[in-house]
Amino acid sequence: MRSATAIACANIALVKYWGKRDRALNLPARGSLSLTLDALATTTTIEPLEPLEHGRADGASDELVLDGVPQSGRALARVTKHLDLVRARTGSRTRVRVTSVNGFPTAAGLASSASGFAALSVAAAHAFEARLDGRELSVLARRGSGSAARSIFGGYVRMYAGSASDGSDAFAAPLREARLDLGAVIAVARASEKEVGSTDGMEHTRSTSPYHGAWFDQVDLDLAAAEAALAAGDFEALAAVTEGSCLGMHADAMAARPGILYFGPVTLWAIARVRQLRRAGTPVFFTVDAGPHLVAFAPRAALPSVAAALGEHPEIAEVLVSGPGSDARVVGEGEGGARSP
Ligand code: PMV
Repeated sequence: MRSATAIACANIALVKYWGKRDRALNLPARGSLSLTLDALATTTTIEPLEPLEHGRADGASDELVLDGVPQSGRALARVTKHLDLVRARTGSRTRVRVTSVNGFPTAAGLASSASGFAALSVAAAHAFEARLDGRELSVLARRGSGSAARSIFGGYVRMYAGSASDGSDAFAAPLREARLDLGAVIAVARASEKEVGSTDGMEHTRSTSPYHGAWFDQVDLDLAAAEAALAAGDFEALAAVTEGSCLGMHADAMAARPGILYFGPVTLWAIARVRQLRRAGTPVFFTVDAGPHLVAFAPRAALPSVAAALGEHPEIAEVLVSGPGSDARVVGEGEGGARSP
């Protein structure tokens, strides 16, 4: 056991994941495809709670400090459950302190679970000396959050749903041959009502939306189209499939009973603004996750003008401009442990 610090970037899906085949193992029913973004990074440090030479009593709790605030309850339980997966692999019983810092507004409901669980997985595997390769790290990160499996890798990433009941073939892998160099503008909408979380939203959609089967059928077609567009460097084709996948996912959620509506008025304004920019000649397209924030993808040279246009609306609190992010990685290690207060 050693201390370790890892960094991971969040990702935004171009072909969306919306529906699980197994809730306990967090197995997606279909694949997905995303771009990892460097502006949405989480840095996580894991330290053993007692100096190793003094041994330690088992049974104490892990500790979690998120953006400087000590956490308890559900947030801590979720992290402990994740660490238990690594402890089970290595036979360790050491409790740890996890210190995690998001370099972007988490309150905004941006994809912090993706970067958070990817950084936690990489830091924990290194700290507990679990020796996991990229695929195994992706499988591990997936247990924390489905989209976290994709944040193990940089650039464009393809998630595979797999078919094994233990989830060993449900992992992400990088698409290294992609020929479109895009970045993103994240238009952070002002906080509105509390949103339905992605797991609850997917589950409710799966059990009540009459459109869910059609959504699933379309995902496979969209994945093939997106991969072909990236391989060919075909911007228009990627724009069409990304917007189609986004609106299809939201249509499925809206068709649930009662319907789930993640869009706010500002989301519709931002969609119209992106389409207006495109009609006027700016190469840009949009997506929206399980919240009101719009993400616009564009070639890097177009990002400043897209950011300026989206920042015009008073209900957009902030615009973040991002290039593609790198693989999740260890950025520090040491022998020292943290002392319980
Ligand atoms: O991995 P989760 O549970 O955060 O779910 C992600 C769901 C979406 O963000 C809406 C789509 C996606 O593929 O990231």
